[in-house]
Amino acid sequence: MTVTSRIKADIWRVMQATGLEVSIRSAKSDFAAIAPSAPLPIDMDELQRLSKVYRSHPLHEVQGLEVWKKRAEFDPDLKGIDTSNFRAHNAYVWQANYSAVDYALSALWAERLDSFGMLEKTSEDGAFGAQCIRMNDRLWSRDLMDSILELTFLTDHLPAGYLEEKKVIDIGAGYGRLAHRLAEITANGNLYCTDGIALSTMLCRAYLRFRRLESRVSVLNLSDISGFTDNVDLAINVHSFSEMSVEAVCWWLDWLVERQVHYLFIVPNKPGPALNDQTSLMPLLAARGFTLEAQRSKYEDPLVGKFALHQATYYLFGRTQR
Ligand SMILES: C[S@@+](CC[C@H](N)C(=O)[O-])C[C@H]1O[C@@H](n2cnc3c(N)ncnc32)[C@H](O)[C@@H]1O
Repeated sequence: MTVTSRIKADIWRVMQATGLEVSIRSAKSDFAAIAPSAPLPIDMDELQRLSKVYRSHPLHEVQGLEVWKKRAEFDPDLKGIDTSNFRAHNAYVWQANYSAVDYALSALWAERLDSFGMLEKTSEDGAFGAQCIRMNDRLWSRDLMDSILELTFLTDHLPAGYLEEKKVIDIGAGYGRLAHRLAEITANGNLYCTDGIALSTMLCRAYLRFRRLESRVSVLNLSDISGFTDNVDLAINVHSFSEMSVEAVCWWLDWLVERQVHYLFIVPNKPGPALNDQTSLMPLLAARGFTLEAQRSKYEDPLVGKFALHQATYYLFGRTQR
């Protein structure tokens, strides 16, 4: 943290403690300047073909948020989801309206919580438009910080070595943010990503190839999901169930029950865990034998939670085979 941002954070903390509302806006120059990335190669014919296939899948009928329905293809409405900027602020990872102080506070929190040394194994390069600050000789993005906090929570609560070897699937994996990090901090070759939106599947596959992880992370097309009959040890769902309809969530939960999943990690947009419209997921989970094993605030300190990037609650559910 630079001296300036530390002083700003201290001032902010004192003003908040005395009940004053403050808003520190950052100059663009507070964020790291990173050279633009070349477009990620995406086969547009394949994207069109896949979009058509996804539209005829039963999940499409019960899809939740309009944003994902509309953004099934690259088009002028995509506001930032393009092949050279898909890690910038957009519907995958929200990065707007945060100051460099918010970033610095979150980075300090991630650094403090990194009890397994993950920051030694994965780093940020700012590729494809990820908004970053540079602090302590390191680039920090929301992608990096969220991933460290999520994977630390999982390592804290899963049996020892679980992330290293067990079969893990990320449902609604976006561009592959967490799978990329998980593959970098472990040697696990049993990692899978899938998604209900063809655009996300295509980006995820191309991004993980760009990171040279395609041999350890398989990206499954939605149309291949019913043919995937392996058992799953851990399923991950970060800010994805929240954006679906109840029917779509049930579809995925039923699939996981068939796959005899042992653990399910959920990070919802709304605590509960709940959908964006506040519908609780608890009855859906309980009806399928999931029980809550661990829960933690992303930022356990309430003041940090108020100012750091995107407060959230982490939930780990277990399921004993019946
Ligand atoms: C906010 S993004 C989160 C992406 C990623 N989990 C992360 O945390 O970086 C929501 C994701 O849910 C996916 N999604 C939307 N509807 C879905 C559905 N019915 N089934 C599976 N994934 C879906 C979107 O394509 C997108 O990848």
